[in-house]
Amino acid sequence: MAPANNVDLTAIMTALGGRQALQDLLGVGASAISNYVARGTVPTHVRSKLYGALTARGYQVRLDDLAILCAPDAPATAPAKPMVLLIIGGGIAAYKALETARQMQRLGLDVTGVMTKSAAQFITPLSVAALTNQKCYDDLFSLTDEAEMGHIRLARSADLVLVMPATANLMARAAAGIADDLATTILLATTAPVLMAPAMNPAMWTHPATSANLTILQQRGVHMIGPTEGDTACGEIGSGRMSEPADIAAAAYQLAVKRPRLLAGKTAIVTAGPTVEPIDSVRFIANHSSGKQGYAVAAALAAHGAAVTLISGPVNLPPPAQVNRISVQTAEQMLAATQAALPADIAVCAAAVADWRVAGSRHAKLKKPDRDTAEPIQLSLCENPDILASIAQSDQRPELVIGFAAETEDLQENAVAKRQRKQCDWIIANQVGGAADPVFGSDMNHIMLIGETTVENWPRMLKTELADRLAERIAEELSK
Ligand code: PMT
Repeated sequence: MAPANNVDLTAIMTALGGRQALQDLLGVGASAISNYVARGTVPTHVRSKLYGALTARGYQVRLDDLAILCAPDAPATAPAKPMVLLIIGGGIAAYKALETARQMQRLGLDVTGVMTKSAAQFITPLSVAALTNQKCYDDLFSLTDEAEMGHIRLARSADLVLVMPATANLMARAAAGIADDLATTILLATTAPVLMAPAMNPAMWTHPATSANLTILQQRGVHMIGPTEGDTACGEIGSGRMSEPADIAAAAYQLAVKRPRLLAGKTAIVTAGPTVEPIDSVRFIANHSSGKQGYAVAAALAAHGAAVTLISGPVNLPPPAQVNRISVQTAEQMLAATQAALPADIAVCAAAVADWRVAGSRHAKLKKPDRDTAEPIQLSLCENPDILASIAQSDQRPELVIGFAAETEDLQENAVAKRQRKQCDWIIANQVGGAADPVFGSDMNHIMLIGETTVENWPRMLKTELADRLAERIAEELSK
């Protein structure tokens, strides 16, 4: 038996197609191979290449001595798992890609790693290959890789391309369509959905250049998760911290798994975002809704085949794919757009509509009163129309009308009363205003789904996941 960590190169040579194939793979001559065989060991970079080549051919290989544990004869009937191409960028958060890969595998996804040159400063291709049981690709001009797979086929074989950490540099190159390494070439060549998990210094994240690149990428349909607020690796506090591996893995799962089009032939109206109620020509009343929850619902319904009209207050999000977005400012405009979109089979009101507007808002800018003589300015408010109630009570009432209830206290009690008052079928109750677990603007939500006689407490999850589950529940309900 060979001593520990010694490598049985003869067995590996056979598995890889003979001595010449091994020479080509390693880019060395016959004497180097003879040397390795005689010594029974190989340098680390050769070990990494061998591991990658064997696993790419379907062998199960032990990491420490490259012993072949199992030949690539998987049963022909095994269903193919969705494949995520994990592009690892060069940032301190690169190490989290390993945990994310593991979590994605637990969710039943196959993961193949691709690393940028700078990612290799933080983690090694060998650790990625070992964890994913697949070769980790890092070179656009590798003849061996091209012979095995080819970068275009690699890009096309993915059900999802996940970029993490998405550095400012990687985002900029992707936005500009630059293809100067394997990672950016894949981003240009892929037809699969792309998910990016940005991570960078807060000043870099808020820089106008990064904001512009973000907008370009989102307009092209690239999905984003995070970044979140908190401590960043450089010691600064702010937005730029990469989302957690479990959240990224869950978002990847949502995008990689192809869903049946359960709502084909159905029409849906979704309201989202805040409404903005003018005080005068420059000031307004609004709230913290980012639109993320409503946009996720619109995207999920569309992904399941529904024809979706999304009526949105002012937010910073691009319209989801295959969704007809109508942009509005005020509650009155939102009501008019909603009524114009009827009839529909489904209505989901996720917008945070201002309950009041300023009575007789003025066009001219209100002047600050003279501090010594004048009375403080009084704003008089009047009630806005209730869009959800008007849809639920319309003679064109959709078959299923769903509202959200944003509560700061007595969540269930208030939401149950709200459902009855507005006469919707379901109300989705979420607790807002908590500093530790904010719903406004966050990627996560934690809800109760309340029907006429039922209350379901759903676990905390991504807004996209929640939307997807909701779309499935809607399809189930409509098929009854
Ligand atoms: O946008 P995000 O940052 O992702 O945050 C998500 C969210 C917190 C905005 C969302 O999950 C949510 O709870 N939306 C409803 C917010 C709200 O206005 O709740 P409410 O309890 O005040 O209203 C109850 C329901 O009536 C809602 O469906 C609302 O859209 C609707 N409504 C309210 C007032 C009004 N004048 N017209 C309405 O249609």
